[in-house]
Amino acid sequence: MKNKLWGGRFSKKTNPLVEEFTKSIQFDKKLAEYDCIGSIAHAKMLGKCNIIPKKDAGKIVSGLNSILNKIKKGSFKINNSAEDIHTMIQNTLDKKIGRKAQMLHTARSRNDQVALDTRMYCKDKIDSIIELLKTLKKSMKGFSVKNMDVVIPGFTHLQNAQPVLLSHQMLAYCEMLARDADRLMDCKKRVDVMPLGSCAISGTSLPVDRNFTAKELGFSKISTNSMDAVSDRDFVIELIFCLAVVGMHLSRLSEDLIIWNSQVFGIADIGDEFCTGSSMMPQKKNPDALELIRGKCGTLYGSLAEIMTIMKGLPLTYNRDMQLDKEPLFKSIETVKSSIEILAALFKSLKINKEKVLELLQDESIYAADIMEYLVKKGVTLKESHDIVGKIVAYGLDRKLKLSEISLKEFRIFSPKFNRDVYGLLNPEKSVSLKNSFGGTSPKQVRKQLKNARF
Ligand code: ARG
Repeated sequence: MKNKLWGGRFSKKTNPLVEEFTKSIQFDKKLAEYDCIGSIAHAKMLGKCNIIPKKDAGKIVSGLNSILNKIKKGSFKINNSAEDIHTMIQNTLDKKIGRKAQMLHTARSRNDQVALDTRMYCKDKIDSIIELLKTLKKSMKGFSVKNMDVVIPGFTHLQNAQPVLLSHQMLAYCEMLARDADRLMDCKKRVDVMPLGSCAISGTSLPVDRNFTAKELGFSKISTNSMDAVSDRDFVIELIFCLAVVGMHLSRLSEDLIIWNSQVFGIADIGDEFCTGSSMMPQKKNPDALELIRGKCGTLYGSLAEIMTIMKGLPLTYNRDMQLDKEPLFKSIETVKSSIEILAALFKSLKINKEKVLELLQDESIYAADIMEYLVKKGVTLKESHDIVGKIVAYGLDRKLKLSEISLKEFRIFSPKFNRDVYGLLNPEKSVSLKNSFGGTSPKQVRKQLKNARF
């Protein structure tokens, strides 16, 4: 039991199967840096409060600093036979500075230690995901500005609906991503709570200064109930949820691009460097990266279901089940990170095929709502206008006529309010320019959105 943090009361060695089954080093090694930084703050606090001699605290701190440097340089060798990263770092410190290293675990349990490390990891990753979201929004903004003049048929039910600026559709995603960043910021408030000092379950009889540790580590609050602090993983659940929502948005964005890139639509051309080929069909250029972003949403939802189920019904306080929070957490962070990075790069070389866009705009039924509002402006009720335009569309379909091929005389069969100017509505630029309500798709409104500081 030499290398364990808890060997004293055991007379038999752990069954190797149990040892293998219970260890977490293979994944919690990702917490190595945070574990060292957390322990450095804890050791400083122990010294400052005279819980351990200041001299020994100093030794522990410098020992941990040299371990931390190695971790940062990538030269810290992880010994996979250790139970977890906390044990591994403690053992390394023992070897480095001798017996005094053991004082580090004074007024601490792995229960509050692991909660601290996980919170530090989450805080850090929230910041980096928010930064990445900014990069993606910037890249989409660049793409939107470059294609400011492009009008496409917007869809509802994947059916031609009304003309919109392509940039308007891109900015719709930017809005979603901005809310994702807001959600992450808000989640960070609940992550930003320092649990150390809660110890195993009940706190400690030693005179710790929990606020000092929190300040050292840049936490804005300390936990107020030691039992809650070692039991709660709702901050992990919340973060995984936030990431699942990001993933859902990225999957919808990917789906739109996949549709646009298909031969049937053909309005977008994804750069070769983001596609892969087929072993059987030499002509193929498939949008696999986007398909994987769409598919990995399944991983993210899976992680959420996993952590919610792990936590269900656990009695207070710490239970070993909670060790299983890390894999879904790490997986979610890494999945979202790589998906955002790929999309941010992909937008830089994404090309729009304007000829194809014009082909799609041949369907003049997308102006039906504009004609309806034309009649409304002339005093016809909405219901009546709707009926009139519906009948005109059906009239054209029956005779295989586009709206522009229906004569004014014929238009007037349906309503005497029609004048020659109705044909002016059958134009994509005209159509979008009319949608000047706040948040609408007119170039004026879209330019206003582009100026929004959130992007
Ligand atoms: N590796 C463990 C975890 O991640 C550390 C805590 C172990 N604590 C305990 N009382 N067995 O949760």
